[in-house]
Amino acid sequence: MKKTIWLDNAATSFPKPDAVAAAVENYIRHIGATMGRSSYEAAQDAGLTAYTLRESFCRLFRFDRPDHVILTAGATMGLNMILQGLLKPGDHCIVTSMEHNAVMRPLTQLQKQGVTFDRIPCGTCGIPDPADILPLIRPETRLVLVTHASNVSGGIIDIEAIGRICAARGIFFAVDAAQTAGHLPVDFAGAQLSALCVPGHKGLLGPQGIGALLLAPELAAVLTPLITGGTGSASDSEDQPRFMPDRFESGTANMPGIYGLSAALTFLEDKGIAAVRSHELALTEQFLTGLSDIPGIRVPGPAGAMDRAGVVSVDFTERDNAECAYRLEKEFGILTRCGLHCAPAAHRTLGTFPQGTVRFSFSFFNTPGEIDAALHAIRHISSGER
Ligand SMILES: Cc1ncc(COP(=O)(O)O)c(C=O)c1O
Repeated sequence: MKKTIWLDNAATSFPKPDAVAAAVENYIRHIGATMGRSSYEAAQDAGLTAYTLRESFCRLFRFDRPDHVILTAGATMGLNMILQGLLKPGDHCIVTSMEHNAVMRPLTQLQKQGVTFDRIPCGTCGIPDPADILPLIRPETRLVLVTHASNVSGGIIDIEAIGRICAARGIFFAVDAAQTAGHLPVDFAGAQLSALCVPGHKGLLGPQGIGALLLAPELAAVLTPLITGGTGSASDSEDQPRFMPDRFESGTANMPGIYGLSAALTFLEDKGIAAVRSHELALTEQFLTGLSDIPGIRVPGPAGAMDRAGVVSVDFTERDNAECAYRLEKEFGILTRCGLHCAPAAHRTLGTFPQGTVRFSFSFFNTPGEIDAALHAIRHISSGER
């Protein structure tokens, strides 16, 4: 493979720690068993690894119930489990104007069945004022669901402030941490969350197809499981078990994903989220500073790196963004993502709809030299040189 610079970590992180590939290979070659299905040694290893993973999630997100960490296929699945499992006709939900389609598509489908929703306006910089939720709350408001950071601008939303508003009114509060998990501290207890949805393959540095939904017991008690079926437990009954996590984990689990993600979380714990954040913050600062004197581009979202996850969108105002992304790859080996990033509402909010943007997104493995290379390439493309 040609040497490239991967700046598409908001879509999926690459590379992964070596230990992740080793753990997946070890599982495929030497373990092979499914958790909770048999009692031989390999099955016990599988069960123990899954439990260890739940405990790692608890430490990472300050959550105290490993049995309420549901292993999912990713953020989309967790978000669907919350939205479709909770909201009934007549219920009302509040989201922001920056949400990903992983939230907006299930919500739009539910709207056709009688669920209503409102969006907190976020202004052109894409960050809502938490107080703007207050006029949207109605007696039938059952859920507030917000992204922790935009996958288009990287703008970080103050979930602690929103959590206080929801807790004071007894409204369930769920957070989509697809762009913050593994990148910055996410505090389930501190933000008084009812649910946290995370993918394993982005900032958590694990493989695709595995993620988690952390569920507060009060929400777990009223949530209807989206998928029911075999759990390997309570096999004498045709009723879905009420106990956790089995209530929400039917079917054979993604065991290679569980082994890989477990190794990834161990890697992250060793490094420390504070160190990851400080590295990515420095890269984001370097990138924003470098962009500030390049003509012919617009950078939507907050001005300061502190207010962003490591995600920066660039709109080449005098060129075609898709062609710019193509040239970044072909001429400079720089991999980005161009378009609307499954978040049309966010682009409408930021004023970049329908042209979209070229998104640059960073991980722990990126270096200052790679940021310099990206800045050089953007300057070259924006100047119109060939
Ligand atoms: C903000 C946000 N939410 C949800 C998702 C969906 O994550 P997944 O594709 O891992 O289910 C993404 C992925 O791009 C995202 O950026």
